[in-house]
Amino acid sequence: MSYDLPSSEKAWNEAQPYAMWERARSECPVIQLDPMGPDSPPIHFVTRYDDAVHVLRDWETFSSSVNTDVMGAYMGELILGLNGEEHRQYRSLVAHTFRASVLERWDQELVRPLINSLLDQIVRIGRANLVADITAQYPVQVICGIVGVPLDDHMQFAAWADDINGGPMHHDRGVAASQAMRAYLEPLVAARRVEPTGDLLSELVLAEIDGERLSDERLYGFLRLLLPAGAETTFRVMGNTLFALLNDADALAAVTADRDLLPVAIEETLRWETSVTMVSRVATRDTEIAGCPIPSGSSVNVLTGSADRDASRFGDPNTWSIDRPQTPHLAFGTGPHQCLGMHLARLELRSGLDAILTRLPNLRLDPDAEVPIIEGFAFRGPNALPVLFDAS
Ligand code: HEM
Repeated sequence: MSYDLPSSEKAWNEAQPYAMWERARSECPVIQLDPMGPDSPPIHFVTRYDDAVHVLRDWETFSSSVNTDVMGAYMGELILGLNGEEHRQYRSLVAHTFRASVLERWDQELVRPLINSLLDQIVRIGRANLVADITAQYPVQVICGIVGVPLDDHMQFAAWADDINGGPMHHDRGVAASQAMRAYLEPLVAARRVEPTGDLLSELVLAEIDGERLSDERLYGFLRLLLPAGAETTFRVMGNTLFALLNDADALAAVTADRDLLPVAIEETLRWETSVTMVSRVATRDTEIAGCPIPSGSSVNVLTGSADRDASRFGDPNTWSIDRPQTPHLAFGTGPHQCLGMHLARLELRSGLDAILTRLPNLRLDPDAEVPIIEGFAFRGPNALPVLFDAS
């Protein structure tokens, strides 16, 4: 089957890939693209759920080193690009700070005050664009607060995160942002080494296992990943959840009345419209997936966004419904690299959406504004969410 990747940055951002992925799942579950040049390896896209799980769990055959090849120039020594024992050691040094029990304290101290101060700025107006006014700002502020970066600098951090993420397309900008972020963080790291303050930066500089500490390269590599990983992803899923609720009046009423349904709405959104639809691997040996030969050295992209709409696992997969049986999804990946920030993401989404539903009564889409859509190929989120509500 023919499979056309978007040909420009604009087309990547505006793509609607689900119909193409659905066709692939039924006709040709591993899509192969022709190599970009004579020395380039073939590129594969894995579309079905079971195959996706298989690739993500078999780290010896499907290596994560491709992430270092693509992002290493901008992020530095990257946990996402390591395998096996080396990855396990690195991960065990940073994992503690992301445990659900450790994160709970941030909820009252940081997360709820932050969402409430953003809501303070719109509650009296009775109308807002929830993307520009809330979701684009909230997760980046949370991650800055948890790391220990002054909140006043969060816009600067969001800009660096954007440029670092966009490094493969705009190399010079990516490198400049990477260097600027390190230069900014160095004095903060030095200060925490002398006087830890209990923030994540302090925990990272002090973390020690069997006498081993994070090297500086890994410390800055991790910090450069955290901002885009924590901000770009959660903000879009928050927008996608609001989009789903605003387009389903019964579900919005049910969740507003019974906040125990919020986690259900969030998990269903992660399955239906995750923000990161694709994770990358490279084959370390000749192998096959679903009968499709995969030569050693070829790139294997797992489309988690497609796998979570696989009808063999999720009935009526294109429909968002809080009534569907809860079945684990792949939005946070699986296997050794499963998202370290998933408990933080869930906590932010729960607290953020709870505050929005409480403080913006009678929330609805603005009927006179342009109808919002969710768009994008690798990153998906709504372009805008113009809403009305009862001002207070
Ligand atoms: C809804 C929001 C999020 C989504 C959909 C998401 C998705 C993912 C996925 C799919 C992976 C696996 C990548 C792979 O297998 O190659 C991953 C890894 C990772 N995520 Fe998230 N993420 C989210 C939020 C966060 C947050 C809030 C943080 C931290 C602040 C974070 C930090 C990380 C890190 C550090 C890894 C690398 C783990 C490793 O390599 O061992 N993520 N994420």
